[in-house]
Amino acid sequence: MKTEIILVLAAVQLAYGVINRLNESEYARLPPLFRLDDFDGCLLAPGDKYCYFDGKILDGDSELHTLIKEYSANLRTHFDHTLFHWGLCVTQTCRQYYGNSTVEDALDACINATLYKSHQLQAKLVRQNFFCTDFGEADPYDTSDYVVAVVFLTLLMLNVFGTIHDLFFQTNKSFLSRLLLCFSVRRNWKKLVMPSGEGPDPKLKSLKCLHGLKAMTAVLVILGHSPLTAFIAVGNPRYPEEIYHKVFYQVLLNGTQIVQIFFTISGFLLAYNILVTSEKQRISWQTLPQGVILRWLRLTPVYAVIIAFISTWLRHLSSGPLWKPAVNTEVLDCRRDWWLHLLYIDNYVDLSQCIPQSWYISGDMQLSIIGMAIFCLCQGPRSRKIAIAIAFAIGLITPAAHTFFQNLHAVLIVSPEMAGYFFVEDPTYNNLYKRGHTNLVCYAMGLALGMLMYDLYGQEDTKGKKKYRLLFWATVPVGLGLIMLGMMFYIDDFEIPLFVRVVYSSAIKMCFGACVCGMIAGTLMKLDSVVRGILEWQGWTAISRVSYCAYLINVCVIRCSLAGYNSLQHISFFHMILNYCSILAVTYMLSAPCWLLVESPVAQLIKLCLEGGNHKKPDVTVKDDSPKSKDQEISNNDKTEVVTTYL
Ligand SMILES: *[C@@H]1O[C@H](CO)[C@@H](O)[C@H](O)[C@H]1NC(C)=O
Ligand SMILES: *[C@@H]1O[C@H](CO)[C@@H](O)[C@H](O)[C@H]1NC(C)=O
Ligand SMILES: *[C@@H]1O[C@H](CO)[C@@H](O)[C@H](O)[C@H]1NC(C)=O
Repeated sequence: MKTEIILVLAAVQLAYGVINRLNESEYARLPPLFRLDDFDGCLLAPGDKYCYFDGKILDGDSELHTLIKEYSANLRTHFDHTLFHWGLCVTQTCRQYYGNSTVEDALDACINATLYKSHQLQAKLVRQNFFCTDFGEADPYDTSDYVVAVVFLTLLMLNVFGTIHDLFFQTNKSFLSRLLLCFSVRRNWKKLVMPSGEGPDPKLKSLKCLHGLKAMTAVLVILGHSPLTAFIAVGNPRYPEEIYHKVFYQVLLNGTQIVQIFFTISGFLLAYNILVTSEKQRISWQTLPQGVILRWLRLTPVYAVIIAFISTWLRHLSSGPLWKPAVNTEVLDCRRDWWLHLLYIDNYVDLSQCIPQSWYISGDMQLSIIGMAIFCLCQGPRSRKIAIAIAFAIGLITPAAHTFFQNLHAVLIVSPEMAGYFFVEDPTYNNLYKRGHTNLVCYAMGLALGMLMYDLYGQEDTKGKKKYRLLFWATVPVGLGLIMLGMMFYIDDFEIPLFVRVVYSSAIKMCFGACVCGMIAGTLMKLDSVVRGILEWQGWTAISRVSYCAYLINVCVIRCSLAGYNSLQHISFFHMILNYCSILAVTYMLSAPCWLLVESPVAQLIKLCLEGGNHKKPDVTVKDDSPKSKDQEISNNDKTEVVTTYL
């Protein structure tokens, strides 16, 4: 059995390997794809100039040029070697051309001469894509920087006052006092680390395992994002090209499906929570705008804080050869597009580098509105089921239609050229991957599962569930297998027929969503204690609570770590592992303060204002100072915790 597996793997490796690959000595003939001159050693005196740019190799008839062309024809697994990305010290490397002419002309002549000398190739500058840094250049601080600084300081002061108030004067029960208490870091910390599902409703308590699933998915999503840096400024571009031929890395490359777990959970939680709420409160069409506004209020402040930071202070943090192309591009795009993000429609607008991963947040918002509309406008379970079925059908048809009419890939192809720039120009990413309606299918399955699990609540202990156990255990390997199936799209020189792509593009989401649903259902039905034990582990809870912040921050962390490099990196397996670990650590270290200082206070502020509007007695009663009662007080106040957990 083992040898067979090895044989199959070897065959797959071979199928990947034989076609269109260059051996080391041939590869060494290609002109350098990346090059970085010393940045600090360049900007020494007034007038010094450093430029990072794209250059294009011009058509020629040399044998080397044919080789480059042939090798670059397969953009799925190869860089486009006719396009190179260099950072040159114009005033040193290109001094002889930079006398009277403009930078563009100097670079044009300089790279042509350099490549002509080394490789007998002609080249020119790609004029829309170059970033120069002058000696002593500093981005001036403008009004928006100061405004954002004032807002951030105010937030920080609120947290300081809130904490002091909590520590020393917490007996006062006025509105102002309760308002300040929302900002108490001590209380928020307790909320962060408290066990989940301690609220009064046992139905919500059973959702504990979702924390584990969410936390793991977030950690895996960051794993999927972390190698993006491997495609920019690498000293050994052959390595990232080789990873496509390694089975292990194929799991990562096809891991883009994993975000469907979030959509499924989101749909599930929405349906389940609405049904639980409807026991106490009538759900009518008025609930819809309320729900949308609440969700917007809950998600937007922390999002706005992060966009504000990216649009203003981020650009002052550092500098380097890659700082402008990697970070300033995002800054400029965020200054232009921030409102699209705050309205949650940015996933319908292309070509923006501003928080590229936020497409999920917008998609989830759009789908939540659809989900809420289904539950608020359709009252009976029957009409709801029909509406969910229609949504499901739309979710199945749209990806297939996009693939068919726009001739797209069936899944997002993580190609070296596209990945380095966060896919902003990739038609599959723009039309199929990031839109709301193309991700409807898993969301609809989540909604259906929510209704089902709500109906099945209390029947966990029925006999005969043993026969489902195998099915439950199968969900993980089958899910993994579905992910691996995407390998076929990376086989060199093998175009998958359109018909297969059309079917695959919608079927893969449905099948993967079915696995996730099976996993959630099995865990909630207590089919197996090992998996449930893992998912319900206490440690996931805090990680899961900060996952919204972590999701918003992680790509920025990746960008900054990349832009911090002053020279080309040599990628290796261990480099990738270390890179991932450090990005993970930094992301969560920043997410915790983001949650403590912004997200959690805002969530409580909203709750407080709603209570204030209803003139209800506050849940919070602080008399006893013993730690136990305080924990109790916090968790009572937090009974709707699972409801308001996003991402
Ligand atoms: C690499 O391939 C070229 C052409 O196929 C061949 O001439 C050369 O000997 C090969 N080099 C090595 C080290 O195998
Ligand atoms: C700059 O212009 C002057 C006068 O037009 C000319 O003599 C000189 O050769 C030019 N230098 C370069 C580097 O082109
Ligand atoms: C590039 O340099 C070569 C050699 O100096 C020259 O013959 C050719 O015209 C140049 N090409 C361009 C586009 O400037």
